[in-house]
Parts: sequence; structure tokens; C-alpha cells
Amino acid sequence: MKLDLELVGRGALFHDLGKARSHDIEHGKIGAELGVRLGLPQPILAIMEKHIRGGLTAEEATELGLPVKDYTLRTLEERIVITADRLVDIITDTNQIVSSEEEAEARFEEILANNIRYGKNARTLERYLGYHREVQALIRGASNDRKPSRIP
Ligand SMILES: [Fe+2]
Repeated sequence: MKLDLELVGRGALFHDLGKARSHDIEHGKIGAELGVRLGLPQPILAIMEKHIRGGLTAEEATELGLPVKDYTLRTLEERIVITADRLVDIITDTNQIVSSEEEAEARFEEILANNIRYGKNARTLERYLGYHREVQALIRGASNDRKPSRIP
């Protein structure tokens, strides 16, 4: 499938730039503003601005006091960055809740569902789980494609 890995890498690198100014929920908005000043391209700005809680609806943005707009994630690259962000949280958890990256992927759903600081709330949790399932399915599909065909 078509996937812009450079965008995934750059989006991952820049997504939390706003934390240089604030660790509050506005860090997505602040990061995107900084990104505009740095001349970053729109797809990276989108990742920076929309990564909060995995892509808020306009209604949720209103509730959280953020500029009212639809932050829904539109691209696979955006969803990969968000899934990876949660995985890194789990892998680097100071309580060492997993002992390997593989364990973090395998227990992703259980860990998010049982840790409010990761799952946040029901709608956010649902988004994170959806992205994780999508990415895992793509990884499985890709590894199946690479299996050598059997010689009859
Ligand atoms: Fe963030």
C-alpha cells in the first residue's frame, strides 16, 4: 500500500513540539503554530495539531475549550503516529508495565482499557483501539504478503 514513511517519521518527530511551551491539552495547537513559523508542510502541521486524544470531533474540541474544528484523523500516516505515541508511552512507562516492545503491542488493548492515563475516556479509547487494530491488521497483511509461496 501507499504509505509516506518520511511523513510518519517527521510527524512523529515534530508532533509534540508544542510541549516546548506547554504540556496542557493546547500543546497540539501551540505546536502547529510554531510549525507554521518554522515553515513545516501542511501534512506535518496536521499531525501536530490533531494528535491530541487521537483526533477530536468539533463537539469534543468545544468541551475541551480548544478552537472549534474537526480534528478527525484523515490519513493512515496520522493514525500510525498516534498509535506509535501510545506504544512508546507503554514501553517507556516508569512502572515498567511491559518487558518488551512485542509485549506492548500484544497487550495494547488491555493496557489502554485499564489505564485511564492512556485511554483517557471512552471516545478517545475507542479511537486508539481502532487505530491500533488497523495498523496491526496492515502489519499482518504485509507479513503475509512477504511469505514465500509454497513450491508444489
Ligand atoms: Fe502530545
